[in-house]
Amino acid sequence: MTSPRLATLREQGYVVLERFVTPSACEALRARAARLVEDFDERAHRSIFTTVEQARRTDDYFLDSAERIHCFFEEEAFEPSGALRQPKARSINKIGHALHDLDPVFDAFSRAPEVKALVEELALPEPRLMQSMYIFKQPRIGGEVRCHQDATYLHTEPQRLLGLWFALEDATVENGCLWAIPGGHRGGLRERFVREGRRTRKEVLDVRPWDERALVPLELPQGGLIVLDGLVPHRSDANRSARSRHAYALHVVSGHDAYLKTNWLQRSTAARGF
Ligand code: FE2
Repeated sequence: MTSPRLATLREQGYVVLERFVTPSACEALRARAARLVEDFDERAHRSIFTTVEQARRTDDYFLDSAERIHCFFEEEAFEPSGALRQPKARSINKIGHALHDLDPVFDAFSRAPEVKALVEELALPEPRLMQSMYIFKQPRIGGEVRCHQDATYLHTEPQRLLGLWFALEDATVENGCLWAIPGGHRGGLRERFVREGRRTRKEVLDVRPWDERALVPLELPQGGLIVLDGLVPHRSDANRSARSRHAYALHVVSGHDAYLKTNWLQRSTAARGF
């Protein structure tokens, strides 16, 4: 029998689960992320994360983050002089992409029994935890994330990527919550972010723009989880409020499916499950 949550995911392309993790688990992750940023030497790595010009700005620091824990700055983090506009802790866009494998606190959170049980319920066979991101959406300077499908960045054949997006703080329209197009996962993949050696490029498969009028806001209190089908279009606005909007995103693929060599994220060891 299909679970109601799986039925909603298949019908809508996403499912919103309130109170999935405890506030204390969220706080533990936030504290751990703050520590990672504190230990990060910003003078050594001024890599900026932007979805607008991802291909151009892709560099070794980004590609190498497939198997490491790297910090990426917000686009607006720096003055023209190169100095940070705000303290370092308020300037990082995200940490990625192997937190779930390399950091014990993120490992435990990502592989918690309730997460494993949910992924099993959602019928993804032989789940493999491929990528993790801690997303800050900093107050005032947190940039927008344009409308996209996560499968653009992680493609498998057949295509059945699952994204798990944990709200570590309250996510509201004001501080840049996710927006998604209900049912938008049925139209196929429109773009692929393709790796060729140490370079990447965007390949357009379908030139139609998204109907952004169909986006609905997915506001969620701390501890909530949004499960996203890899094909559902979603976005988030810039955060111009005074409050941050921390989230943790985990992407899971199936070990049954072919993981393409053209994915930017390539590992030297097989991705592990739960
Ligand atoms: Fe996304």
